[in-house]
Amino acid sequence: MNTLVIGSGGREHAIAWKMSQSPRVKKVFVAPGNAGTALERDGSKIENVPISENDIAALISFARQNKVTLTVVGPEKPLCAGIIDAFEAERLRIFGPNKNAARLEGSKIFCKEILRRGNVPTGNSHSFDFANRAIEYLENGIEMPLVVKADGLAAGKGVIVCDNREEAIAAVRLIAVERSFGDAGNKILIEERLDGPEVSVLAITDGSTIVRLAPAQDHKAAYDGDKGPNTGGMGAYSPALVFDDKMSEQITSRVLVPTLHSLRTSGVNFKGVMYAGLMMTKQGPRVLEYNVRFGDPECQPILMRLKTDIVDVFEAAIDNRLDKLPPLEWDTRTAVCVVMASRGYPGDYEKGKPITGLDAAAKIEDVKVFHAGTTMNASNEVVTNGGRVLGVTALGENPSEAKNTAYKAVKCIRWDGAWCRKDISDKSVQ
Ligand code: AMP
Ligand code: GLY
Repeated sequence: MNTLVIGSGGREHAIAWKMSQSPRVKKVFVAPGNAGTALERDGSKIENVPISENDIAALISFARQNKVTLTVVGPEKPLCAGIIDAFEAERLRIFGPNKNAARLEGSKIFCKEILRRGNVPTGNSHSFDFANRAIEYLENGIEMPLVVKADGLAAGKGVIVCDNREEAIAAVRLIAVERSFGDAGNKILIEERLDGPEVSVLAITDGSTIVRLAPAQDHKAAYDGDKGPNTGGMGAYSPALVFDDKMSEQITSRVLVPTLHSLRTSGVNFKGVMYAGLMMTKQGPRVLEYNVRFGDPECQPILMRLKTDIVDVFEAAIDNRLDKLPPLEWDTRTAVCVVMASRGYPGDYEKGKPITGLDAAAKIEDVKVFHAGTTMNASNEVVTNGGRVLGVTALGENPSEAKNTAYKAVKCIRWDGAWCRKDISDKSVQ
């Protein structure tokens, strides 16, 4: 079969790489992909196509012309824009939530409403349509640590964690008056600030059955020791040992199941990846947010460990038969993914820096270098093209072995301004 992966990050490289291992797959097109997916081309089934992930009409005509029978969407933006609805209207098979269901990520206020109706544990919050109302609320309420969030999609940046009232008022102004996140700031959510380790729980659902993926933990802060500004994620590892099987079961029954139920009773049929961002507070797990797609970089170590044919999983979800799917099989080893980033990230950064050492890194056993922000320049060199550039991923018998192998591969790779966190997966042994 011919398949199509939409997106250009490390997550999409990992999805395409995993799908290409399916014996049923002849071709994995990636739109638009990156240098990593381009380089898989020789002797592999993966091929980039130069169509933007947001050009839904062009993606549909490509899928038609190339007899694509399975499309998988990586990022949230096309999902929230309704790519699933558009493909389905053309009778094209595609994996992911429709526009209505993607609001679980696309609107933090909608998400809170669903959680509230389903009695899912989450922080207390208030939503506001106008900045002045939010400021009034902050001025009159008791002072406590709060988090101010833009309602809409803001590329992971619309969440401002505040220490006091002044900071919270400044955050409201930034979102709703200065409109730093554009229309995403049309509405505001003010939430109690929670404390504890964060974990991501990912599952695939067909709307009725929930198949949990292996637990992973992201590292969102830019610098070692969880210091510095928030990023899209500087590394991840799986399995995340912050929670055991019992905790996983508890999260499924207290969080994932009631969320899906609440969506259904609200008339929303959710199909695709449910990604719950949780904080493990002293009072128990609390949902911080939902995403409706694989996490990036969590996807990389998770898929590195998945032994089951992922195409079977996507198809079972599309066809509402996840209940018939045998349990997923996992490599029992640990996978660690270290993100290598451009100088300046998560702020401004330069692009176009030639990257060396990729071949040497790829030769190390149990290492896979997933590309994120890379492209090929006119001289056919791999150059940087984003803030998060590579996700260097390694398997090991235990977390420290996987970590050592990943950093050994990192050491092979160079470009002007490359940097990474040095402590990815250390949380697993705390
Ligand atoms: P979100 O996009 O909602 O997951 O928020 C991004 C990051 O902001 C999370 O990974 C947390 O580190 C932080 N955050 C979000 N909500 C809260 C909260 N209620 N309390 C403390 N930190 C939060
Ligand atoms: N790694 C966080 C995310 O994908 O949203």
